[in-house]
Amino acid sequence: MSIVVVVGAQWGDEGKGKIVDLLTASAAVVARYGGGANAGHTLVVGGQKTVIRLVPSGVLRATPTCVLGPGMVIDPAVLLEELDTLIARGAMDASLSRVIVSDRAHLVLPHHMVVDRLRESGAGAIGTTKRGIGPAYEDKVARRGVRAIDLVYPNELEAKVRANVDAWLPTIRALGGEAPDVGALVATLREQARRIAPLVRDASDVLHDAKKRGANVLLEGAQGTMLDIDHGTYPHVTSSTVLSGGAASGGGLAPTDIDRVVGITKAYTTRVGGGPFPSEMAEVEAERLRKAGGEFGAVTGRPRRCGWLDIPVLRHAVRFNGLSMLAITKLDVLSGWDPVRMVVAYELDGRRLERPPATGLDRVVPVYEEMPGWSGDLTTCRSWGDLPARARAFIERVEQLTECQAAIVSVGPDREQTIIRQSVFG
Ligand code: GDP
Ligand code: IMO
Ligand code: MG
Repeated sequence: MSIVVVVGAQWGDEGKGKIVDLLTASAAVVARYGGGANAGHTLVVGGQKTVIRLVPSGVLRATPTCVLGPGMVIDPAVLLEELDTLIARGAMDASLSRVIVSDRAHLVLPHHMVVDRLRESGAGAIGTTKRGIGPAYEDKVARRGVRAIDLVYPNELEAKVRANVDAWLPTIRALGGEAPDVGALVATLREQARRIAPLVRDASDVLHDAKKRGANVLLEGAQGTMLDIDHGTYPHVTSSTVLSGGAASGGGLAPTDIDRVVGITKAYTTRVGGGPFPSEMAEVEAERLRKAGGEFGAVTGRPRRCGWLDIPVLRHAVRFNGLSMLAITKLDVLSGWDPVRMVVAYELDGRRLERPPATGLDRVVPVYEEMPGWSGDLTTCRSWGDLPARARAFIERVEQLTECQAAIVSVGPDREQTIIRQSVFG
């Protein structure tokens, strides 16, 4: 039995959803440990595509318990919509007996989204997903957040929501927005609470019980290492701890419970939103890669910025997540590119850097390495030996440069389009 964290090693959208769905075949519990509906995790099973934003990506498997962990910020409207879609699809029964919402998770309220949108229309915009994530985490840290447990006590809800709205009024007014109608907001929340409150409990019990009986547990990250509030490209980051360091408290366990950490990386790099991106391609090349890889936001539909694989970013991910192994996705997308390139270091003011600096990433000069490319359809490869020798050499070079083994190589969006070289659960 093992407790395994799955974390994005780049700027998000690495294919975490696909890998979590795959690994959940052997897990009893899957818990999302951070973020909210800023995430869009895509699962493809038998050619059918599902995009998940809040519920863990193990949901399409028949039995695992799906936990929305204490580190998350949950928009009740998005949650109900997502659950209804999953019920309609037959992925879960109407009793929702497999879904648990942590009592300690915070709520994203409509005015959080209003503030996020207003800020993003001004000079300080960083290209957020406009889902109210930043303002909801601001409330959490300011100790005035509304939590999932508050939905269980509807009589006390109004005072909490009113105090929360009051705290935002000066900001909303300064940004030119309208004050929310607290009465209407509370009425909607009470309505939503009728369905959500029965799912709310101390989620850590479920994880600890699974651990006690020796079952496998997955802790699913959202976003990616370079969007982490501490170690990402600040201030162009999200507002939560993305790294595996946050998986324990954000999921409902202790750091010593974690056995392994799997870092997910594409065979190249993408980023949505603003901020430095040293290996970004010129638009002509980026457009080709975007088309080949379907690089458009799973939720927002925004075109993703595209670039070559960035090894300093992966070294950063290996160090700060304590990666035990890598899962490299989208190798199939690089077929037909010759040569293939990767950034192996940066130069900044005459100094060579092996990892991203705290500032100045927008000024670094990337040091590239080229390798001969490969061609042909990789999506039918199912074993290491099926891959072209040059594709294997590419993966081996990544392993060498990052000092981390690629346990999984993904060659297509479908669950089946995967090469497993090493078991993740040990
Ligand atoms: P996540 O946020 O990390 O779960 O990733 P997203 O779902 O936002 O984006 C990853 C995209 O790549 C999705 O459209 C997946 O279906 C797709 N994908 C995942 N793995 C592969 C792969 O190995 N090859 C190809 N071609 N697509 C993949
Ligand atoms: P998944 O889980 C890619 C980015 C936004 C923006 C920054 C801050 O699908 O990998 P936020 O709305 O969180 O305040 O935006 O973070 N971002 C993501 N980029 N994938 C994600 O999630 C992201 N979640 C947030 O584009 O640059
Ligand atoms: Mg995504």
